[in-house]
Amino acid sequence: MVDLKKELSNLLDEKVNIKTYDLIKEIKEKEKGDYTFPCFILAKELHKAPMVIADELKDSINSPIVEKIESVNGYLNFYINKEYLTKLVFEEYENTKDHFGKEESNGKTVCVEYSSPNIAKPFHIGHMRTTLIGHALYNIYKYLGYNTVGINHLGDYGTQFGKLIEGYKLWGNEYDLSTDPIDKLVEIYVRINQECENPEVLERCRNNFKLLEEGDPYCISLWKKFRELSLDEFYETYKKLGIEFDSIKGEASYVDAKENIIKILEKNNKLEISQGAKIVNLEEDGINTPCIIEKSDGSSIYATRDLAAIMYRAKTYDYDKSIYVTGYEQELHFKQVFAVAKYLDLDPKYVNGLVHVSYGMYRLKEGKMSTRKGNFIKLEDIIKDAVSKAKDKILEKNPDLEDIDEVAKKVGIGAIIFGDLYNSRIKDEVFDIDEMLEFQGETCPYIQYMCVRIKSILRKLNTEVLINDVKYDKLHDDLSYDLVKQIYNFNNVLKEVIDKNEPYILSRYLIKLAQTYSEYYNTFKILSDDIDERNSRVYLISIVMNVLKVGCNLLGIEIPEKM
Ligand code: ARG
Repeated sequence: MVDLKKELSNLLDEKVNIKTYDLIKEIKEKEKGDYTFPCFILAKELHKAPMVIADELKDSINSPIVEKIESVNGYLNFYINKEYLTKLVFEEYENTKDHFGKEESNGKTVCVEYSSPNIAKPFHIGHMRTTLIGHALYNIYKYLGYNTVGINHLGDYGTQFGKLIEGYKLWGNEYDLSTDPIDKLVEIYVRINQECENPEVLERCRNNFKLLEEGDPYCISLWKKFRELSLDEFYETYKKLGIEFDSIKGEASYVDAKENIIKILEKNNKLEISQGAKIVNLEEDGINTPCIIEKSDGSSIYATRDLAAIMYRAKTYDYDKSIYVTGYEQELHFKQVFAVAKYLDLDPKYVNGLVHVSYGMYRLKEGKMSTRKGNFIKLEDIIKDAVSKAKDKILEKNPDLEDIDEVAKKVGIGAIIFGDLYNSRIKDEVFDIDEMLEFQGETCPYIQYMCVRIKSILRKLNTEVLINDVKYDKLHDDLSYDLVKQIYNFNNVLKEVIDKNEPYILSRYLIKLAQTYSEYYNTFKILSDDIDERNSRVYLISIVMNVLKVGCNLLGIEIPEKM
């Protein structure tokens, strides 16, 4: 679509000696115009007061796309021609429909790593955040034309598997792993840990781990079993949330790369021995804690495997950007890993492209969640709770709704996703599903409800309105223009999301659009008796619905037909 800022800067660039594009800003208060250009930037060069420059420029610019220009205290405020912009947006929509705001492939590749839970451990609320934030970013990068690779860096490696194998050998036959396998593996793990006070048991566990490393078929087959059972359970959750990956690759697959990493670091004089361990000192990089590459017992650590993963992703995907979505408690870890990556002889583009996208913690509203098992809360239970509460709320309003279970899923899960993506990711949050499920306020059900209302108007009308039926002079009011402007901005909002890796920017935009629509609906009779008015309004609100829907889908949320 035409870039309005570009159009305005073309007009200005003709008159002045600088590139004005980046200086033009959108005006937030809608009464004061659409875009503004600060003339004081030209004052020095032109030896004139900004106000004089603004006055002169104002008189010299003449274009059909601007309705009015005002010179205010040295600023040039542009009012875009409403009909021009409305037409622009409507025609763009006509040509793109549910691809509105989407971009052609730009040839760049972005790896987005998200979720990455640990096997044989519960999928808890912390993993929910990486999963939802990462998946939304994945969708939005893709929509904006990036070749996107969604990666699940499964935590399937660690000394704990030596213990789990020992526990399974002892008590495996007491447990039926065909249902809720992770709960049972956790139980076995807790049990064997208690036994580990006995040095003999501990020694057997260590030996199991060694055997596993050496490729002992029995130990490997058990580890594989734990991995598969865990993945099956994770996938049940992923399926409910609509989460997918292009690659699931576990930490275990990176263990063998350790030797090569050590070789490169040694060659680059970066490896030091400290208390028997091989480390990289990072003081020169401003990091006081060295990064361990190999423990004194010869094994790799979490960071070593992340370094191997960087090398793998660089080689396999030739990425331009590689994003890691994890909690902020891993900030030091990623600082260390990204710093060591500089010494691995990688093309600098791969090192510069590494981005840690971190987020704050979720706390649960006290006492509200009762389905506690041990001291963790499973995402599975959170979803169940949200869906059942959504069902109750919808039935209260609409007792005869068909497909209530499907609708409740969309509303309940949508509420969780939107609630998670509504604030800057770095903030700690209280998880309050009741608040997230409110039909009024800044919530997902509110947006879904607005969409459903639009759908019901369209059903009532029962004939398709075409762009040729639109009479633009019926849309000259401020509210219509407000909607048009917001719709125009959809693509810019998506760009801002990936600029900052902050999905909440899209969530807030969607709320604003839904609120403006609600005002519109309360102000105007959409199915007006004046056919031209009716058609024009209907066309406008079907675009609103479409943008709300596409935006929600990008966050991972579905819109029901009715609710
Ligand atoms: N498995 C880790 C955990 O559950 C998260 C992995 C994050 N990704 C990474 N490349 N280190 O805490």
